[in-house]
Amino acid sequence: NFPKRYAQALRLPTVLTPQMVDGTAVYDITARQSTAQIIPGLTTPVYAYNGEVPGPVIKVNRGTPSRVIMRNRLPRNGPWGGNYEISTHLHGSASNPEFDGYASDVTKVGQMKAYEYPNLQPARTLWYHDHGQHWTAQNAYSGLAAQYHLHDDTERALLPQGEFDVPLTVTDAIFLADGRLKYDDSSHSGLWGDVILVNGTPWPTMKVKRRTYRFRILDASIARSYRWRLDNGMPLQVVATDGGLMPQGVAVSTMRHGGAERYEVVVDFSRVPATTKRVELLNMSNPNNVDYDFTNKVMAFDLSDEPVDTSDPTWNRNYDGFPLAPSETMSLVETGAERRVRLRVERANGLWTINGKTWENVIASEYRETVANPALNEVQVWEIENRSGGWFHPVHIHLIDFKVIGRTGGSGRVLPHENGPKDVVYVGEGETVRLLIKFSSPTNQTGRYMVHCHNLPHEDHDMMQQFKVGDVDD
Ligand code: C2O
Ligand code: CU
Repeated sequence: NFPKRYAQALRLPTVLTPQMVDGTAVYDITARQSTAQIIPGLTTPVYAYNGEVPGPVIKVNRGTPSRVIMRNRLPRNGPWGGNYEISTHLHGSASNPEFDGYASDVTKVGQMKAYEYPNLQPARTLWYHDHGQHWTAQNAYSGLAAQYHLHDDTERALLPQGEFDVPLTVTDAIFLADGRLKYDDSSHSGLWGDVILVNGTPWPTMKVKRRTYRFRILDASIARSYRWRLDNGMPLQVVATDGGLMPQGVAVSTMRHGGAERYEVVVDFSRVPATTKRVELLNMSNPNNVDYDFTNKVMAFDLSDEPVDTSDPTWNRNYDGFPLAPSETMSLVETGAERRVRLRVERANGLWTINGKTWENVIASEYRETVANPALNEVQVWEIENRSGGWFHPVHIHLIDFKVIGRTGGSGRVLPHENGPKDVVYVGEGETVRLLIKFSSPTNQTGRYMVHCHNLPHEDHDMMQQFKVGDVDD
């Protein structure tokens, strides 16, 4: 029953319609068990938002606050053992600490929590996913992950919209013969599936017109990183990173993409020769992933000769070097006066640690243990050193966007597609990455926030710490 490549069409996630209550967009979502037809002829149980894989997309306008009511109607015992308790994190949002999906802030089966989001940041691709303590990997793997798009006028004027603005959530999985998902994280190293899924479909095809498309690519794999390339060598025009628009677009022929990173990439199919009917998106792989026969393929674009609306100025816009939008994050300049914070990530006694400590140490300290305590609006330089040998770690910092200002070891430089506001950084084998961070947010949030590896088995066991913004007692 192993799924065939390019045998099924790409599915697009449902877009949720909010109820407007006093200017707030209210969404009511139920995390529940359902089934999905992922492999022809087989039924896969999933545990997902509204029971949907891919999870339903929320689309909001900058300046309109949202409330997401999250109901936990999952079975009491999860398929992997343990209680099905969830905590929902809106990744990429400067949320109040109480709405940030703290790992310990779980909603039990039969309960609900209403999350409030200000949506005041520049347009970006966010995603919401489970963050429950020690079960994040299994929960996200079984379906609790979905995109969330924040729009604004700047982004609307610059990038393809509507049917040409396409979410691509990429995951990998292992299936048992009966269609159930298999979970094996190799002693918490990571899970490496032999099936690549885009929006929940194995190796799908998508029909495209001969014009530009903007793909919001999210690596929602719990461990795998990718290296994209188009089979015809055409450029990938990167226009936005985790925190939204880059100062200017950049064309690359391949790009590395780690867990939880979002890259918005424009592909211009108007440049494809008329004789070419299909373009494939490939995965060239990075060191220390486990590859299988077909993990080098991702999806295929089938070109249609339908007419294209050439009055849309983005239809064949070349984004390579095209000025997009400045941002507070990308305007930051290191002065040398900043406080330096060093994070050492490594494996010690079978556990993944940050500065020798685990999330259990944070809990044991009654949440007093922190890696940094910046004042509100303080700028700091964080240096993340990968001392774990043959592993890469996509490190995520909650609340803020940062600028990647340096990398030594490994790939040895900030890569062209990383020149935009980021909230996850790929810390490759032997690399030390330097980040410039202003601890600010549109609503001046202070309090405790998490920092962790986004290889989710690493995060759960137990590569997570916290920092505290401002002088708050909580
Ligand atoms: Cu996407 Cu703390 O996570
Ligand atoms: Cu890691």
